[in-house]
Amino acid sequence: MSLAPDTFAFVADLVRRRSAIRLEAGKEYLVESRLLPLARERGCAGVDAFVREVRATNREADLVRVVEALATHETSWFRDQTPFEALRTQVLPDVLHRRGPAARVRVWSAACSSGQEPYSVAMVAAETLPPGAGVEILATDLSARILEHARAGTYSQLEVNRGLPAPMIVRHMVRAGAQWQVAPALRSVVTFKQHNLLDPAPPGPFDLVLLRNVLIYFDLPTKQAILRRVRQVMAPGGVLVLGAAETTIGVDDAWQRVPAGRGSVYTLAVPPGAAPPAGAPPAAVRRPPASPFARPAVTPSMPRAAGAYVPSRGASL
Ligand SMILES: C[S@@+](CC[C@H](N)C(=O)[O-])C[C@H]1O[C@@H](n2cnc3c(N)ncnc32)[C@H](O)[C@@H]1O
Repeated sequence: MSLAPDTFAFVADLVRRRSAIRLEAGKEYLVESRLLPLARERGCAGVDAFVREVRATNREADLVRVVEALATHETSWFRDQTPFEALRTQVLPDVLHRRGPAARVRVWSAACSSGQEPYSVAMVAAETLPPGAGVEILATDLSARILEHARAGTYSQLEVNRGLPAPMIVRHMVRAGAQWQVAPALRSVVTFKQHNLLDPAPPGPFDLVLLRNVLIYFDLPTKQAILRRVRQVMAPGGVLVLGAAETTIGVDDAWQRVPAGRGSVYTLAVPPGAAPPAGAPPAAVRRPPASPFARPAVTPSMPRAAGAYVPSRGASL
């Protein structure tokens, strides 16, 4: 079955305007497969008929569903491992080193999908931060539907099996019938909010921003605009983590790539708000400030074998 060209053009334009996700020629199969369940639910003969109806009625709820259906929510626990290893061995110790043992670490998990990413951060923080220190995680996504899933913190065995090691399940999850739910103490440190990356960033400052596996869907000017907005909300010494297939290089040279564990993270070459000194060379050749990651990593492996998570610490993990 092939999609009518004007169906594809309408959907691609709608999705691009509302989310910046690019649906280029050749992605007709994607539109068809993602919208077919919606068409069936509506009793339409096919995707063309469904989209004709959506266009004719122009109901906001339908338009939102179409956009949400075209977003890819693929995620897993401790995805790629290295960012979480860097968080535990370098990012969190560095914040404590600079701000003291009672620091509150602020994290933004942008485009968090169904929540595995921010809950993975919460688990690492619970097992790394000393008593008295705390973490606040703001987790955002475009999709209200996926945020409902994230907020509930409830996952099937299949979802849990995607990257959550057994000791972590024991320490951080509770049984909820046939499913698993993230323990209340851990859920209490994560706040989920709907946010479109095309809008201004949520109020910072953030010590850590995870912007992972979402820039790949956008064109260059959109990536640049998003990275510019992220700059505005970074705390001094703050760290940006991108997906394994993403980089700031060739996109926004205000960032510098810094080795962290077996991967890399990004910091601002010039701290937020500070103008480069007159006559300074371009950011690409400017000497970076002392790397927050100059110290040796605390331990090499992730996740930690023996965790010290104490559920009663609640919001002050
Ligand atoms: C592939 S998932 C990445 C999830 C997680 N960050 C990870 O790396 O596992 C991409 C997420 O980006 C969200 N997204 C797409 N466009 C967005 C936009 N314009 N603003 C905010 N979130 C967006 C989607 O809803 C989806 O949940």
